Amino acid sequence: MKQFKFNKYTTILEVQKEQLEELIRFSKNDPWKPIFHIHPECGLLNDPNGLSYFNKEYHVFYQWFPFGSIHGIKHWAHVKSKDLVHWERMPVAIIPTEEYEVHGAYSGSAIVKNDELLLFYTGNIKYSEETRTANQCLAIMNKKYKISKSLVNPVITGIPEGYTGHVRDPKVWEDSGKYYMMLGAQRKNLTGTLIIYESNNAIDWNFKGELKTSLVNFGYMWECPDFFKLQGKDILVFSPQGMEKNGHDYQNLDNVIYAVGTLDINELTFDIEYTSELDKGFDFYVPQTFQDALGRRIMFGWAGMPEIQYPSDINQWAHCLTVPRELILEDNVLKQKPVRELETLRNDHKNIQGMLDDNLVEMENDSNSYELDLEFTAIQSSEIQLTLFKSEGEAFIICFDLKKNVVSIDRQNFVNSVGKEYGYVRTGELKIGEKITARIFVDKSIVEIFLNNGDLVFTSRIFPKETITRIEISATGTLTYHVDKYNLTRGI
Ligand code: FRU
Repeated sequence: MKQFKFNKYTTILEVQKEQLEELIRFSKNDPWKPIFHIHPECGLLNDPNGLSYFNKEYHVFYQWFPFGSIHGIKHWAHVKSKDLVHWERMPVAIIPTEEYEVHGAYSGSAIVKNDELLLFYTGNIKYSEETRTANQCLAIMNKKYKISKSLVNPVITGIPEGYTGHVRDPKVWEDSGKYYMMLGAQRKNLTGTLIIYESNNAIDWNFKGELKTSLVNFGYMWECPDFFKLQGKDILVFSPQGMEKNGHDYQNLDNVIYAVGTLDINELTFDIEYTSELDKGFDFYVPQTFQDALGRRIMFGWAGMPEIQYPSDINQWAHCLTVPRELILEDNVLKQKPVRELETLRNDHKNIQGMLDDNLVEMENDSNSYELDLEFTAIQSSEIQLTLFKSEGEAFIICFDLKKNVVSIDRQNFVNSVGKEYGYVRTGELKIGEKITARIFVDKSIVEIFLNNGDLVFTSRIFPKETITRIEISATGTLTYHVDKYNLTRGI
């Protein structure tokens, strides 16, 4: 690849079209590039932003640095879809060209107002770690996809008293004619929290205060808050940084939690009834949700982690989003279901079923973008292993410990390893019982596992040496299995 000059703060306006095309060509044939997960053609993707259903189409924006796999100056990239599974790449949506966003157009959310899509984001200003500040900004997209930055930008200048420069990632919503903006923030004592602004028109904002919750001393910064109602409950999702590992919890460098309870917006309190992590895999961070025309609450997450090198980095692209997942609240637990539209990507159905007795079965597989739907019935079994990405010397092992009711995933056995400094195994608790059901989506270098109707979810990146890999099931004791496999076709 020809080298061209750019630095961390080079925007897409400062390079020639041919240079970008060269980068796209260079990363195009990477065998780890997913085919139905939203990913960048080149450069680095991180958080999903501005998720919305607007003018009969789904819109997903994401944090993007175009040149190589580093966290350089963030743009907002844009893809759209009519069905949530086939995505069209759109021109870059937000380029940080103004003084108020000079070091990046950071994450944010969208609302529909007067036939326009309002995109709220953070203008990042970072002269050094100590002299960092943030402005909250607005860009407006019309029905013809034309995006203009608001002339009154920034809609909020700087940081309110009591917080460091880490205030960002506006989540905006409307309630009874009023608009609210929730931001992730760091207090001057270096603890994470959320703050709230209020507005009558979504342009002029007043600082209301800090949201009071029972989560005190809970990490040093809370990133990318989300807030929504589901089945009559209020739900808060955010990504705390700096949590200590605790049993099955907070096993990653940065983590995601949700809290179910009641928000009193006037008192600025959120009474928590239940909290939990959203995903127990290695690579899941800063998810965002939106409601679609069918009333579904749909979530995309970033299938990645900050500050970790990934094997595909050498091919000048990094990361992807998860598949869209419908959220359902059952007894205060958020369950995640891959949206049903994903079924339209299925072809080439295969099925195996039978019984294992201290032995193993292998399933034929000729693709590395596929879905597995399986049901295990443990008759007298203490451990079940499902192995994906199996080839000479490599294996991704999903292990069900039926005595302890623990599921673990292990990605130790790969030449191209990821984040080994943070450990090779992740675990989660699952009331396993006799029957285990799983839906698993594999797409070249990402695997998403949904157990027992979305009770427990693991999202992970895996970088196998071989492109086509085997699937194996083994059991200690007796087990019946029933597995359907579908190859999945291209969506992006
Ligand atoms: C989370 C995050 C956000 C920020 C964005 C910058 O991954 O750090 O808080 O807005 O990434 O790309």
